[in-house]
Amino acid sequence: MAFECGVEPLDRYFRTQAGQDARKRVASCFVLTDGGASPLGFYTLAATSIALAELPHTLARRLPRYPSMPATLLGRLAVDRRYRGRRLGELLLFDAFSRALRSEVATYAFVVDAKDDAAASFYTAYRFIPLTEGGRRLFLPMAEIAKLFA
Ligand SMILES: CC(C)(COP(=O)(O)OP(=O)(O)OC[C@H]1O[C@@H](n2cnc3c(N)ncnc32)[C@H](O)[C@@H]1OP(=O)(O)O)[C@@H](O)C(=O)NCCC(=O)NCCS
Repeated sequence: MAFECGVEPLDRYFRTQAGQDARKRVASCFVLTDGGASPLGFYTLAATSIALAELPHTLARRLPRYPSMPATLLGRLAVDRRYRGRRLGELLLFDAFSRALRSEVATYAFVVDAKDDAAASFYTAYRFIPLTEGGRRLFLPMAEIAKLFA
């Protein structure tokens, strides 16, 4: 059975674009399976940056005066709707955290783009902070993520 998270743009991305993005090296796609034919969930990772001026002053004042900070972007995250509520979203999120932490390429923060308020509240439950007030781009410093694995 085909993957279906219930959000058509995400389903379409997974069906038609994820493979191309991976081949062109613009995003890596990681797929969760139970060994069966149908994926249970997926997420993508790519590099991005956050302008120093966008970060809260309390964080920015402790950083070097570079115009922007490197970050890891969780571009997409979705769980098949038949498998919702079984903590697979959390499993995928922590798998993505772990990859970002283990990478030899330094990033200051982990960034997500929430597609709606429900997605934003999923991320804020894991202490993500909106970059702009009420905005849908959220971030979490890698130092905070490292503490979750300590
Ligand atoms: C968001 C999504 C990935 C969550 O996956 P899931 O496997 O159902 O979630 P989990 O079982 O891991 O839930 C973990 C926690 O997040 C909460 N949560 C799950 N989905 C949520 C949502 N849409 N909004 C707010 N909180 C949510 C759960 O209640 C749980 O909280 P708890 O610890 O208090 O019980 C999934 O609902 C999905 O694929 N949605 C469609 C695509 C989407 O919105 N992606 C988000 C990126 S744009």
